[in-house]
Amino acid sequence: MNGLVDGFTKTFGREPEGVWVAPGRINLIGEHTDYNDGFALPMALPRSLTIAAARRPDGLVRPYSLRFPTKDEFSLVGLAPGEVPDGVAYQAGSLWTLLDEGYEIGGLDLLVGSSLPAGSGLSTSAALCCATILAATGLYGEEPEPTEVARMAQRAENDFVGVPCGNLDQSAVMLAERGRALFLDCRSMETEQVPFDLAARGMSLLVVDTRAPRRLAGGAYAQRRRSCAKAAAIVGVRSLREVGAEDLPEVLAELPDESTRARVRHVVTENERVLETVELLRADRPREIGPLFTSSHLSLRDDYEVSVPEVDTAVDAVLSAGALGARITGGGFGGCVIALVENDHVRPCEQMVLAAFAERGFGVPEVFTALPSAGARRLL
Ligand code: GLA
Repeated sequence: MNGLVDGFTKTFGREPEGVWVAPGRINLIGEHTDYNDGFALPMALPRSLTIAAARRPDGLVRPYSLRFPTKDEFSLVGLAPGEVPDGVAYQAGSLWTLLDEGYEIGGLDLLVGSSLPAGSGLSTSAALCCATILAATGLYGEEPEPTEVARMAQRAENDFVGVPCGNLDQSAVMLAERGRALFLDCRSMETEQVPFDLAARGMSLLVVDTRAPRRLAGGAYAQRRRSCAKAAAIVGVRSLREVGAEDLPEVLAELPDESTRARVRHVVTENERVLETVELLRADRPREIGPLFTSSHLSLRDDYEVSVPEVDTAVDAVLSAGALGARITGGGFGGCVIALVENDHVRPCEQMVLAAFAERGFGVPEVFTALPSAGARRLL
């Protein structure tokens, strides 16, 4: 944080009035279920994004970054989707949402620092939107509830940036707690903090950032979303959440093609896997969730078709080195793999991934362990 405060002072010639932090997230299980009103189980990462901020009297926003040298700025007056450079769209969208919802905010100097690898599916964009909303409302004196921040951060992405994401990432960023996983019902928005103290159990969660370029991610994500909505309409339900595992054979028989059937099969079985995982964690049997991770991965690979060779290679490598379970996490088409491993398997899993990537000629992935961490908050 000191580097960020110094950077702010150097960049803007004055001290920041506050500093906020928002973590990245991984989703333990429940993938592509949020926009189907289903269940998910994310946790916050120890890696995060921080924003130092101070008010300005002139309605101008200077959203600079420690990592990127670009110096795009925008005015809050007449702010509208499509009219700011892409690099500042998330922050502009966050402030636009606040203004649109009647928050009285003004100009800002902002400096962003981050230990999150951008573009790796760890929700840097949700962290950026949440931190921006927290900074603006924290400084201008009207602080919304965390669930409201999450909702507005999602709206910024949906309505301003044009990304049709669900509410998983923003909820995780805002509501996650240390040592716990966040059980999220994306229909009612009810949450439950589920014990997930891996350190006390001699286990680790390994994250492999495959660094695979996220090819076609935006278009393919929107297309998956449309298939689910279309399937729900054919079956006559509001969302695929309404379809239980027991209804699946009957529902599949109503659908017109194999691809739509596969998408629905994934969503319905994935919701079941989240519920089973939560049951096991509540019963203090965390080791047993491993196989559910792996079946989730197979479902995402074969039925939802959001995996890529780098991701499958990482999953196979950690499983062959003794991981209890492994899966792709996040939207897919690249990004990260998570694996549940006993502590003494961490090194062998890491080595197996590095060797498998080298053998396939893929770029060097980053492998790290992560404990469930705290959600977004003010630091200073
Ligand atoms: C991305 C989206 C989320 C969610 C996941 C898939 O991370 O931003 O809303 O749909 O993909 O589970």
